[in-house]
Amino acid sequence: MSKKPVQKKQDPETTGHSWDGIEEFNNPLPRWWVWVFYATIVWGIGYTIAYPAWPGLTGATKGVLGWSQRADVEADIVTANDKLAPINAKLEAAELTAIPGDAELGGYSASAGAAVFKTWCAQCHGSGAAGAVGYPNLLDNDWLWGGDIENIYLTVKHGIRNTEDDDARYAEMPAFGQDYLEDEQIDAVVNYVMSLSGEPMDASLVAAGGEVFAEECTSCHMEDGTGDREQGAPNLTDAIWLYGGDYDSIRETVSNSRFGVMPSWSNRLSEAQIRAVSVYVHQLGGGE
Ligand code: HEC
Ligand code: HEC
Repeated sequence: MSKKPVQKKQDPETTGHSWDGIEEFNNPLPRWWVWVFYATIVWGIGYTIAYPAWPGLTGATKGVLGWSQRADVEADIVTANDKLAPINAKLEAAELTAIPGDAELGGYSASAGAAVFKTWCAQCHGSGAAGAVGYPNLLDNDWLWGGDIENIYLTVKHGIRNTEDDDARYAEMPAFGQDYLEDEQIDAVVNYVMSLSGEPMDASLVAAGGEVFAEECTSCHMEDGTGDREQGAPNLTDAIWLYGGDYDSIRETVSNSRFGVMPSWSNRLSEAQIRAVSVYVHQLGGGE
């Protein structure tokens, strides 16, 4: 078994390299390997002639086949749009209020609207639509401008307090700290507002604050503080805060006012997309 290998005559020539007594044979590469190697070179040259490949000063060579990834994507988009054209046309023609209850259009809108929301709305309202300070939560049934499908549609289509759309929703709370009210009056009315939703406050200031409120605030927030959707004036009694319900946040709101802006979507999205995302928001849970 442990016979020493006998040095045979036909052993291939060596390269002359030797490491620790191990000789390096000068074997030719197997034929099949060499042919595959040449084939890859031919393939590589052919490929760079056929397809976009070599970078140049004004862009890469175009390739004789004229293929481009961008054109491929554009063709895919056209195909997808063509497929959706009939249902989008139906969606655009439908009565808004009938869409959520319609099995076909309601279901389509919810999924198409979810995609629109993730692309265009999530950066402000959050991917789950739960909002953030200054950006309303769209999951609850507390609405600034109205939560039925028609109002949601109008809000999305034209936006809020933007300068790009003449039909944008608009109402501006005055900055009471700048001209209208003294410091003590603001202090009092802030405590009054906190009392409306049961936030801990200085009870001794509430009566005086109520007087300021009746004078300055009820035209928008109503006598009972429940707000006015015509003017996007929030309900101040429900302990749901757009800008925060602690003393400092409310004081900041009353002194300097806020100016929440939402873009208009009428120029950025198609009518079908606006309708779909409105239905999506409507069915998130708070729709009326
Ligand atoms: C640049 C930020 C921004 C983007 C993007 C944005 N919104 Fe808004 N959105 C706001 C702000 C701010 C408000 C609240 C404005 C206010 O104070 O009245 C708002 C309010 C709303 C309201 C009204 C809520 C209520 O209580 O009445 C709806 C509905 C709404 N957004 C839906 C959408 C949808 C759908 C999209 C995507 C197509 C979207 N928003 C994209 C900032 C944004
Ligand atoms: C001209 C109408 C108008 C008047 C008058 C007005 N508000 Fe407002 N108020 C609004 C609007 C609109 C908003 C929402 C602002 C925004 O989203 O940018 C608001 C928001 C608020 C908020 C923030 C609520 C939240 O959820 O964070 C508070 C607090 C508030 N107002 C208190 C007052 C008090 C107190 C007065 C009187 C001193 C007053 N407002 C007078 C229209 C008004």
